Amino acid sequence: MIVLGIETTCDETAAAVVERLEDGRGKILSNIVLSQVKQHAEFGGVVPEIAARAHVEALDLIIAQAMAEAVLNYSSLDGIAAAAGPGLVGGVIVGLTTAKAIALVQQKPLIAVNHLEAHALTARLTDATPFPYCLFLASGGHTQIVAVRGIGDYVRIGTTQDDAIGEAFDKTAKLLGLGYPGGPLVEKEAARGDAARFALPRPMHGRKEADFSLSGLKTALRLEAEKIAPLSDQDVADLCASFQQAVVDVVLDRLRAGVRIFRAKYGAPTAVVAAGGVAANQAIRRVLHRLAFEVGASLVVPPLDLCTDNGAMIAWAGCERLALGLTDTLDVAPRARWPLDEIAAAKGKLQRTAAYK
Ligand code: KG4
Ligand code: ZN
Repeated sequence: MIVLGIETTCDETAAAVVERLEDGRGKILSNIVLSQVKQHAEFGGVVPEIAARAHVEALDLIIAQAMAEAVLNYSSLDGIAAAAGPGLVGGVIVGLTTAKAIALVQQKPLIAVNHLEAHALTARLTDATPFPYCLFLASGGHTQIVAVRGIGDYVRIGTTQDDAIGEAFDKTAKLLGLGYPGGPLVEKEAARGDAARFALPRPMHGRKEADFSLSGLKTALRLEAEKIAPLSDQDVADLCASFQQAVVDVVLDRLRAGVRIFRAKYGAPTAVVAAGGVAANQAIRRVLHRLAFEVGASLVVPPLDLCTDNGAMIAWAGCERLALGLTDTLDVAPRARWPLDEIAAAKGKLQRTAAYK
């Protein structure tokens, strides 16, 4: 089974072709990602109108490139998948409408994929991870701990009450004048800083439920920075190191709580799985290793280009759904908001086609 996947929910215009082999394993035939980071950098964050326009301009070419690299024509495809949300709705409309047009013209099934579901299932594309596993999704827009129990069966165990972790990194970078996107820049500064210099809070520490809160940490950092302004290079590095250490401690504590809840409800997870751009952070990766070891699960961190937004994860989620005969009609609507656990609730309403092999 071969599926084209289209991703346009944020600031990456992406298309990929993925094959699902007979044994259920995945094979990426092409994976083209065009980042709009440069277009948004001067604004210090993603500007929705600029993003939507850039998707319109680039998408056709990116799809053509993905098809060419896979050495396939449209008639060889078994389905067309696009991220139908959650995300910036202007961009989602561009990707989903394009997918509908291809599906209609080529008379192929359409699969409207939830972007978070695609992140959640990437570990099965890269590592054939069996269900149930514990997903830690941390990006610029999302911070969630999710029990992934099956296709379309996701239970959110924890989420952030305010900022996403990536967003907290981005805001910290902005505050310290480092640029955008902030995560890699803060990590670089942190490497030469003293993590013990500033006593920053560890929000939600020790709580039984597995939710996150990052905004207090961000405020505490700002107050420390204001106290010692103007900042020297060393001050900036020390602030970054103290901030990153606080985030790392929070991630360990919140994931411990998350896995405890997971175990109590669903038994031991087969794996702890990371997804989202924040998984690029080495200090966070180290703490994920520690956690997985502690709970006796394996750790799956997909290669970085599959952790961040990409078309292959959409195509793969499309394959997984199509293999179960889960497809969508051409009137499916784009969604700015689409929580993962709503997918299970909608299951019965999905159009079912004959199951593919
Ligand atoms: O998954 P992603 O590429 O896009 C979405 O937000 O959907 O994640 C981007 C986020 C940004 O907030 C970025 O600052 C953060 O991931 N990030 C990092 C690192 N690299 C990227 N955060 C911390 N450390 C990093 N090395
Ligand atoms: Zn994402």
